[in-house]
Amino acid sequence: MNAKEYMAGLFDRASGTYERVGVPFFAPVAAELVRRAAPRPGDQVLDAGCGTGASLVPAAHAVGPTGRVVGLDLAPGMVAAAAAEIGRQGLSQATVLVGDAERAEELLPGERFDVVLAGMMLYFLPDPSAAVRSMAGLLRPGGRLAASLLVRSSPSEAELLGLVERALEPYTTGAGSAPFQHQLGGPEELTGLFEEGGLREAACADVVFEVTIQAEQVWDWLWSAARRASLETIPESLRPEARAALEASLPQEPFVLERTVRYATGRL
Ligand SMILES: C[S@@+](CC[C@H](N)C(=O)[O-])C[C@H]1O[C@@H](n2cnc3c(N)ncnc32)[C@H](O)[C@@H]1O
Repeated sequence: MNAKEYMAGLFDRASGTYERVGVPFFAPVAAELVRRAAPRPGDQVLDAGCGTGASLVPAAHAVGPTGRVVGLDLAPGMVAAAAAEIGRQGLSQATVLVGDAERAEELLPGERFDVVLAGMMLYFLPDPSAAVRSMAGLLRPGGRLAASLLVRSSPSEAELLGLVERALEPYTTGAGSAPFQHQLGGPEELTGLFEEGGLREAACADVVFEVTIQAEQVWDWLWSAARRASLETIPESLRPEARAALEASLPQEPFVLERTVRYATGRL
């Protein structure tokens, strides 16, 4: 299995509970991404790595019935969840398809967009700089690319993840592939990628999101996104015991995590 197939499977398996475990994070992060990209009524928008629609849905509301939003994601389960939400909200201006954002040009031949969104996904791509170049190539003159990335976690998150690692270490085999292919460094690395991609006015801004999580939510939260990679290495028969060991090791007071998200924007 290559890295992309692994990634598609990982997020496919996460799609049933992604952002649905009572720990809101991706939705507010995506709302801010759309606010920064500022799609206007009638605009054409591509949401690369759309997941379950966290940014696709607010973007569809912003462009309105005269606009169009296309979501693309590697994981069929994510695309199905996004399609269900589009249907529930009656957003006829939005469509989603399963596909590799790095091959968007082939999948959407000749299409050009006013806004391309890349929410919380660039670090999963084997070559983020090539991805930014190809996304920039999908913009109309004057069009905007906007990306978000989780760049820093607070000491309380490091403490929580340390407790998780210690409690689960006897159960994990360590055989899971690391889903993050890249840790994009400082803001200048991201703006550099945008500038190399031919974008002007490249800029970054960090926003802190506070996430409160109770001990009994931690297990489901870990399974609901990329961190499930290491939990999947726990043999199924041992998972109830692993969960109990984890919960016994966590304090009863909630953890308040301060997660820093970096937003990058640029214009063709
Ligand atoms: C952390 S989720 C973010 C989803 C959504 N943008 C959000 O903000 O909630 C990352 C998403 O990127 C998708 N993804 C990873 N690599 C991809 C690729 N090469 N092409 C398209 N989607 C990809 C995953 O399937 C997953 O749904």
